[in-house]
Amino acid sequence: MSNRLKDKITIITGAARGIGAKSAELFANEGASVAIWDVNVERGKETARQIQANGGVALFCECDVTDAAQIKTAVARVTSELGNPNVLFNNAGIAVVGELEEISEEDWDRQYAVNVKSIYLVSRAIIPLMREAGGGSIINMASESAYVGFPMHPAYTSSKAAVVHLSRSMAVRYAEDNIRVNSLCPGTINTELYQEFLSQQPDPEAINKEIKEMHPLGIGEPEDIAWAAVYLASDESRYMTGAPMLVEGGILSL
Ligand SMILES: NC(=O)c1ccc[n+]([C@@H]2O[C@H](COP(=O)([O-])OP(=O)(O)OC[C@H]3O[C@@H](n4cnc5c(N)ncnc54)[C@H](O)[C@@H]3O)[C@@H](O)[C@H]2O)c1
Repeated sequence: MSNRLKDKITIITGAARGIGAKSAELFANEGASVAIWDVNVERGKETARQIQANGGVALFCECDVTDAAQIKTAVARVTSELGNPNVLFNNAGIAVVGELEEISEEDWDRQYAVNVKSIYLVSRAIIPLMREAGGGSIINMASESAYVGFPMHPAYTSSKAAVVHLSRSMAVRYAEDNIRVNSLCPGTINTELYQEFLSQQPDPEAINKEIKEMHPLGIGEPEDIAWAAVYLASDESRYMTGAPMLVEGGILSL
């Protein structure tokens, strides 16, 4: 344990598993108190339990980040049990797979609700509290696919491009409140989300090989992204706002 995030009261959405869960673990190791918001109750509680067992401070809140009423309840729990948040990591996301002509309107809307609208809903609930706390850091989860077109993911890729630009607009607006807003753009990361995507492919091994070869450094691990989030949450990044932070194994340098 070190103290890079000492006194940081942090909310991480979608932290029951994957990149969010690894971030919750590293944030707690760096001294942050971590609120884990997720719809996956069993895994969310387990992630919180593991952090507590290692001596960290963690609180699980069941929360669907597309639902303003659930957000309100979760915010009330965080403020009463941990205090006013000064770090928000909007990490929750889903990936709708399907070409433009195949995706249903329902799936398109769901993609945007979870990946983009949730950032608006959660941020508008948290920003007044951050302002009261004297400032803070918001990290919005985007993706390499904000920059690279993938024909099978038009809803996902465009939603992540929206996250990058939403973050810029938020950064410019809230600098005067000492609230920094950056987006994080991972390459392909080996999580259950990625494994689920592979399992839906006719030849998962071939697709995995193809994706690996698209990235000069291959496929990443959750901690590769979680460490970047630690930096963005910490005061070490105090002069950084509005920036898309690329941690994408070199794909954008090809
Ligand atoms: N894995 C990758 O290759 C990759 C690459 C770039 C960006 N990302 C992004 O990183 C984030 C995390 O991805 P991951 O791979 O860890 O995925 P994951 O599926 O393992 O984890 C996502 C978590 O979000 C939660 N979640 C989904 N909808 C929610 C909702 N409405 N309310 C609250 N929680 C919800 C899920 O229950 C899950 O625990 C996502 O935004 C994803 O788009 C992932």
